[in-house]
Amino acid sequence: MLKTGILGGTFDPIHIGHIECALKIKEEFGLDNVIILPAGNPPHKFARPVTPGLLRLELAKAAVSGIDGLSVCDIEVKKNGYTFAADTLAELKEQNPGTEFYYILGDDTAVGIGGWKDAEKLGGFANFILVRRKGTGEKGLEDAQKALSGIGANVLLSNETLPEISSTNIREAFANGSAPEDGSVPESVSRFITEHGLYRKGPMTEEAITEDLRSVLPPKRFIHSLGVAEEAVRLAEKYGADTAKAHLAGLLHDCAKGVTVPQLKWIGMTPEDFSPEPAAGFSYRVLHGPLGAVVAERRYGVTDSEVLSAIAKHTTGDKNMSLLDKVVFIADYTEKNRCGEFFEEVRRLADNEGLVPAIAFACDETIKIILKRGEPIDVRTIYTRNAAIADREKGKKV
Ligand SMILES: [Fe+2]
Ligand SMILES: [Fe+2]
Repeated sequence: MLKTGILGGTFDPIHIGHIECALKIKEEFGLDNVIILPAGNPPHKFARPVTPGLLRLELAKAAVSGIDGLSVCDIEVKKNGYTFAADTLAELKEQNPGTEFYYILGDDTAVGIGGWKDAEKLGGFANFILVRRKGTGEKGLEDAQKALSGIGANVLLSNETLPEISSTNIREAFANGSAPEDGSVPESVSRFITEHGLYRKGPMTEEAITEDLRSVLPPKRFIHSLGVAEEAVRLAEKYGADTAKAHLAGLLHDCAKGVTVPQLKWIGMTPEDFSPEPAAGFSYRVLHGPLGAVVAERRYGVTDSEVLSAIAKHTTGDKNMSLLDKVVFIADYTEKNRCGEFFEEVRRLADNEGLVPAIAFACDETIKIILKRGEPIDVRTIYTRNAAIADREKGKKV
């Protein structure tokens, strides 16, 4: 049976430490080869910029090129949305029936393995090679071993320690214009980074944002986002809002849609942080609005407060909505991929009567749906509805 090691990670970028670790572990455990597996879209890094998977894959390929026994696997970076170790390992096992897998991971990571998706299956897919990270101490190692035994894994303890090279420092060095001087980045990787302008400072272009969303969002959600961007521009032109801001807010409005409550711990927040009055009624369905503004700022470098506000308010609206807030709120209902009577009517109102009547109608219908589901109504939805019907009475259109 072939013995194959798997070294997963974000590899943003891959560095000498990763390569040395893979080679040492290969030697130590007599493995035939080690696969470098760049993560598709790591769920814990949703609120920071991550280099697109296909570029990280190229970096990894450049790093292992010419090294015997190391290869790169594209299984995760070719998928949309989040990827999980259990799915990847199941796939690799199916594709390689004659191979025994050895999953390499640091003790600091192993500690949390019980919380991974389908953790109970993981132990059956591979042996686990536990590598110590400097600084976690005996207690850390013990906890990691306990966590791995908890999922029924066969654990092998490596004599190596993970190298102390920081990808953050490497990115910073390139942002400041040059490769780090300590030789931590292989020449081939360094060349690729420079040629493609990776890690350069400055705000992300809309093109780069679009590419990132294409890999992060499920395909339907991505197409919807493009639709909202386009529709927001149309409404902005019609009602006199800033079209560039409308486009950006529309594009990013659902950027946090797939983020789950457990992921919030990675940015030190809880769902309650996103509601001004949790006690007055709070719905998890609307979380991706305000959370989207956080992701837009931290991951995509958006600083414009009007754009961030429109993203934050697109799920519920709020008191005192700006024109841009209203445009994006309605564009979410009227973009071209939405079909059905309800959306047709919002579109008719937005085109013929004004944004205010469209908002009043959209809120009423949304509230009816929420009532039917027996779910709590976010208090901001009520504010939005009441303000819109009061404005409609006064004959206001926007
Ligand atoms: Fe949304
Ligand atoms: Fe949406």
